[in-house]
This record gives sequence, structure tokens and C-alpha cells, in this order.
Amino acid sequence: MAVPVQHINLEKTMSMIKGFHHLTAGVRHAQEDVDFYVKLLGQSLVKKTVLLDGEDPIYHLYYGNANGDPGTLVTSFPFRQRGVVARPGSGQVRVINYSVPNGSLEFWRARFDAMNIRYDADIVARFGERRQRFYHPCGIEFDLVESDLDQRPPCVENNVPEAYAVRGVHSITLSLREVEESVRFMSEAIGFRLVGDEGPYHRFETHTGGPGMVVEFFHEPDRLQGSSVYGEGTIHHVAFAVDTIEQQMTLKDKFMGLGYIDTSESVNRNYFRSMYFKMPGGVIFEAATTDIGFAIDEDPGHFGEEFQLPPWLVDRKDELLSRLEPISV
Ligand SMILES: [Fe+2]
Repeated sequence: MAVPVQHINLEKTMSMIKGFHHLTAGVRHAQEDVDFYVKLLGQSLVKKTVLLDGEDPIYHLYYGNANGDPGTLVTSFPFRQRGVVARPGSGQVRVINYSVPNGSLEFWRARFDAMNIRYDADIVARFGERRQRFYHPCGIEFDLVESDLDQRPPCVENNVPEAYAVRGVHSITLSLREVEESVRFMSEAIGFRLVGDEGPYHRFETHTGGPGMVVEFFHEPDRLQGSSVYGEGTIHHVAFAVDTIEQQMTLKDKFMGLGYIDTSESVNRNYFRSMYFKMPGGVIFEAATTDIGFAIDEDPGHFGEEFQLPPWLVDRKDELLSRLEPISV
């Protein structure tokens, strides 16, 4: 499977990453999380399953558009049950930015008021886009970013009007104490282009660019390092989309050849395969494959309706469910 480093075609690795696959965060309670993504933000619950690492059952909840398209997905582990609180800091994804059409922010501010969601007083602009900061009940930061370039289908659960609806993940904002080596990593290792600097922010794009393919660095030299542990209150990692395990292995060999040996094997996540790696600034990145998908256990149109388990856990379904708090969507 592994491709020798000397045979890697540089141009080929550059085009492998097509944008985001998913983001994964540790949150508090499952029901509170469902209410945030589905009732407030109009996301669909795409899959209701469990965390596949460790012994205690913890939900793994996937949210995104109704198709479960890569690049719209944000997933949650509600960790209150385990009682581990993670420490926000540098070396993490700090902000998840969702894209909404131009002129939407006032609608969302009114909705935040109505649903008792904390948000910042001022609408700000960066790289020519208006944006509104708001907060998950567990404290994780989100921005809504206005862009008319995002042609993905709207997320309209719970009566969110199409004209204002979230289209998917626009970008992520990484908090980094030092940026120099990470800037190099973005281009040399994973094929992103540096497209702009604005104060402490650096903006990168991959593939065709635009919403869904944008990474920002936020240079915060005095911010203490955050934790990597699974726990509530932080975004644990970001996954970028690749086609296949072969592409994952090509990337892995490339990272190893550059000295970034902190990479995982290809791990079976049932709906995709994951290869994890740490970028120089300490943020956990993942390359997730798009060759499997959510239709392996539920038909399109019925995603997220039933509790699902991978084949190797199916015979423990009743036991696992009995140890999880019931949630309603
Ligand atoms: Fe992941």
C-alpha cells in the first residue's frame, strides 16, 4: 500500500485535498448539542452512532446538510458523561466558520436572541467578508460568514428560511503561537495557497478555493497551548477530504519524508477511513476518505433516524443504548 517517497508526484499530492470532510468537537450534553445544531442552525442530524475509541459509550453525532455531504459535516462527542473538560488554547482549531448568504446576519442575530444563544455585539469584517461570532452552549466559538459564492444546498431544518440558511463549513480559524513553519507546511505538505494576510490572520485556500476550502491562521503568540485530550469545550480536530486510502498513504509517506512522523495508520471509522497527523503548530489534522459514505446503513432521505453501530458493535446495541441519555430531534 505505501508508496515510496521518491516516487511521489508532487502535483498529485497537491490536488488530493478537496476541502473539508468534517470537524469534530467535544461538547457537554447530547440534547443541548442537538438543539444547537438542528433547532438553532437548521442542520440535519446525519448520523447517530458512538465514539469508536475507548470503553465507555459516548455518542458520536454527525450534523450537516441533508445529503451528509463532506464539507458540511460537524460532529460531536458529548463528554459530560465522562466528566473530562478540555482546555481551549493555541495549537487548536479555535473557530468553526459557517457560510451564509450575503445579508443574513441580522436574521441570525434575531434568532440568537429568540433562542437565548450568546453572540458578540459587533458584526466585523475580514478579508472582505462580514462575519458574526456566536457561541455553542459549551463555549466553542463559531462565526457566520457572509458569501454569495457558496452554491451548496441550504440547511433548512426547523424552518430556517432558504435565503438565510447555512450552506456548510466556510472555513476554520486555527489559533497558533508561531506560524512560520506552519505556513510552509500548508503549501509544501498539503497543497494550500497563501492568499492573503490581514493583521494577525493568514488565509489559505486549496483546490478551487472559496467557501469549504479556506483555512485561516490566527497568530496568538501569547496564548497558552490548549489540550489534545477528548473532553468538552474544544474542537478536537479537522478532517480534510481525500478520495481513497491510497491517497491517504501517499500523504502519509510525504509527511514522513518531510520529518512529520507523527501520523497514524488508516483507521476504520465505518463511514470513512481516517489518517491523523499533527501539523507543526500542534493542531490535529485528519485525511478522511469520501469513498464509503452514510448510505451503508441508512437510505438517503433517512439519515440519522435510527441509532447505528458498526458491524463489530451491533450485538452490543441494547447495552450501549441503555448507557446513553435519550435524545430527541
Ligand atoms: Fe475525524
